[in-house]
Amino acid sequence: MLSEFGEERQRRLVLDYFGGDARLRLLRRTPTFGSPVFVVDFDRGARHYRTLGSFGSSIQVTEQSSMDLLYPARLVFHYERLMSLAFAMSRQAVTALLLGVGGAAMWRFMRAYLPDCAPTLVDADEVIPAIARRWFYLTDPVILEPAQQYVATTPRRFDVVLVDLYNSAGPAESDVRFWGRCLDLLNPGGCLANNWADFSVNPAVRPMADALDRVAQARGLAPIYVTKRGFRDNLVQYVPTAPGVVAEAMADIHERFIRERRPPDRGRGILENCIIATRFPIE
Ligand SMILES: C[S@@+](CC[C@H](N)C(=O)[O-])C[C@H]1O[C@@H](n2cnc3c(N)ncnc32)[C@H](O)[C@@H]1O
Repeated sequence: MLSEFGEERQRRLVLDYFGGDARLRLLRRTPTFGSPVFVVDFDRGARHYRTLGSFGSSIQVTEQSSMDLLYPARLVFHYERLMSLAFAMSRQAVTALLLGVGGAAMWRFMRAYLPDCAPTLVDADEVIPAIARRWFYLTDPVILEPAQQYVATTPRRFDVVLVDLYNSAGPAESDVRFWGRCLDLLNPGGCLANNWADFSVNPAVRPMADALDRVAQARGLAPIYVTKRGFRDNLVQYVPTAPGVVAEAMADIHERFIRERRPPDRGRGILENCIIATRFPIE
């Protein structure tokens, strides 16, 4: 149970963050996530959103996943749209591993725009997928296991591996062993993409991104980094394994993705004002 005081304070924090008209739908503890999580509905102009949120190490509100209530298959966060490009950076997109379920945004997108690609979902916290089922339309099963354990033991292979592992303390710990296993799971020509939130201010990010870089380079693979110019919030690190999928080809890959998959808004803005780099974009 949340204590009365804690719960009241958390309600206030949510309403301060999302606005007094926001409707808090759920506030509950989780076994492994590290803070209570909540579901809140709110309006921004004519758009209506539902967000799965949590509380950071201090008392700040953190958005884990968001859904446009009128167009649930649209990816609300820009970094998710960037991650969706991994499907076009892979030689084929028949199977995908989603590490970190959250509010199932990527799963809804896949179902609508990549219906021929079978997702496998993994999450460490049983409460999150239960919330995704109740509030975010998830209907597929979820493997309840830490991602590190899943990738270490699964015999399966995937065309696309999307890593988006966060809890109340920030990004899940990842080392060379984890990234080596993630790359082992790729089919030939497959692509991995990882989301680094707060990459310019969180000192934990760089060593983990470097670990992935090293593991990739040791296999002769060249990571690609994409982030919104001047935004410095989320950075997506891709490791494509298909020949020719290089930083210079991203614009063409983006165009092909739009032609073949027809994402919302014709994919406008996915790469607009983005830095596309072959190294971590800040020193
Ligand atoms: C930002 S959310 C993912 C959002 C998701 N990409 C989407 O499409 O909505 C982060 C998720 O990672 C999960 N997570 C954190 N650490 C984990 C770990 N070590 N293994 C598996 N899941 C983990 C959390 O429970 C949470 O559901």
